[in-house]
Amino acid sequence: MARPWDALCSITSFFSIKKVETTIQDFEIRQPIDLVYYDAFGPNSQAEMWDISIFEKIYKAMRSQGVFVTYCAKGQVRRDLKSVGFVMERLEGPPGKREMLRGRKL
Ligand SMILES: C[S@@+](CC[C@H](N)C(=O)[O-])C[C@H]1O[C@@H](n2cnc3c(N)ncnc32)[C@H](O)[C@@H]1O
Repeated sequence: MARPWDALCSITSFFSIKKVETTIQDFEIRQPIDLVYYDAFGPNSQAEMWDISIFEKIYKAMRSQGVFVTYCAKGQVRRDLKSVGFVMERLEGPPGKREMLRGRKL
């Protein structure tokens, strides 16, 4: 079911979602983050989504023990995530992808 922008929508009694109509570059993160599913188009088609400044911004906003996951398994992305502070692991990917990445903020 389509949900409106910029409104907190209850999905279940313990999970709500708010779609914010902005870009990650402009988004001002005002609440600490526990979990990021980074489902951007890949670095070859949208390089600006993989700029290290975005990873720094997300890392700074995350709580300790926060988790960042992405289907992208590129070595440069893994190194950039590591360089901003994430402890990185390669995970088995979803069907059709050999690997994906998970970063943790300790
Ligand atoms: C691979 S799709 C992921 C779709 C998502 N999983 C969903 O179910 O809607 C990548 C998404 O990134 C969004 N996107 C593109 N540039 C963006 C930006 N600068 N900031 C935030 N999102 C962006 C696109 O609009 C697109 O919806």
